[in-house]
Amino acid sequence: MWLFDNKAVPSIKTTLPGPKAQALLERDQQYMSPSYTRIYPLVCERGSGAVIEDVDGNLFLDFTAGIAVTATGHCHPDVVAAIQDQAGKLIHMSGTDFYYQPQIDLAQRLTEVAPGVSPKRVFFTNSGAEALEAGLKLARWHTGRSRAIAFFGAFHGRTYGAMSLSGSKLVHRRGFSPLVPDIHHIAFPRGCKMCSDVVAGCACVKQIEDTVLKRVAPPDEVAAIFVEPIQGEGGYHVSPPGFLPGLRDLCDKYGILLVVDEVQSGMGRTGRMFAVEHWDVEPDIICLAKGIASGMPLAMPLARQMMSGSTRQSGELPGSAGDPGFVAARICRQCSRPRRTAPPRTATNAAAFSGSRGSAWPWPDDGYGCGAHARNGIARSRPA
Ligand SMILES: Cc1ncc(COP(=O)(O)O)c(C=O)c1O
Repeated sequence: MWLFDNKAVPSIKTTLPGPKAQALLERDQQYMSPSYTRIYPLVCERGSGAVIEDVDGNLFLDFTAGIAVTATGHCHPDVVAAIQDQAGKLIHMSGTDFYYQPQIDLAQRLTEVAPGVSPKRVFFTNSGAEALEAGLKLARWHTGRSRAIAFFGAFHGRTYGAMSLSGSKLVHRRGFSPLVPDIHHIAFPRGCKMCSDVVAGCACVKQIEDTVLKRVAPPDEVAAIFVEPIQGEGGYHVSPPGFLPGLRDLCDKYGILLVVDEVQSGMGRTGRMFAVEHWDVEPDIICLAKGIASGMPLAMPLARQMMSGSTRQSGELPGSAGDPGFVAARICRQCSRPRRTAPPRTATNAAAFSGSRGSAWPWPDDGYGCGAHARNGIARSRPA
């Protein structure tokens, strides 16, 4: 375990980028696709907790956590041990064809900590976008309806279904049409004072009913509403108090499914395991990725059993999905905190993920429940 040799952080000893980094940037430019959206010339060498060392020996505090991926910090010793242990036993196991205990353990653990009382099931994928694809397919399959409602400012990923649900930036869509049809976008409540009152009802939800559902999308054709409880890529907007409960009621009224994208906001980043717990709402499908395996490619829709149990989903599980389930299972086992407790206030993720063991691991002190999520805002301002 490298603990940055007890040096003070940050520690910058070259001009940036340094000479080794500069040489690698030039080679990268020659051989790598220009599709990557890099905005910092940082060439990483190794990481430890919240610290990254670049190839020239400069030390940085990592405020991005790989865009919300390394939820337990870089190279958490438990995660490293789980990977090393598993690599000697079994690296690939096709969940499409066979069975494997760590997958079952992880699925059970996740359904136990998921918000709400309904029994749930898990469907493993590799990335957040795939989790959203699977969620969209499941919603269409289960309801027999084609349409979906999503929000401006939302980012759900870069595959076709996920891209079509996104309403964040033109750069994600330009040149890729035609997209998946029948997806309607509506404004996400940004600082809407009228949605602050849970009792009076949420004006932005009412607007969906009065406009989209009355003018362009018959409710009996709408399969699902997709929403991030806290918009990430779109600019870190938190749902006002009445919004998610209002969406839940609207969905129940018309038999529409509520799909919550917790790819970025989930796994302890807001002080609760799932951000949606702050609103006390039980979604029909929760899409998870990123922090679930702290850097290993693992994602999933977690769906209420009444829908995933009634159908045979086919044609969407990638052969390798769920392979690193052992890592997440290891992380997850540490989440001994019972659900619906008050959010821990400091060193949020450390407390959430280390359970009663305590941790000598170098956690950043979030200072408040939303710290880990809000911090990521530093990475948000990419050109449209
Ligand atoms: C809210 C949200 N949903 C989905 C995705 C897509 O996840 P992935 O990059 O793993 O496909 C992202 C990625 O940033 C995201 O922030």
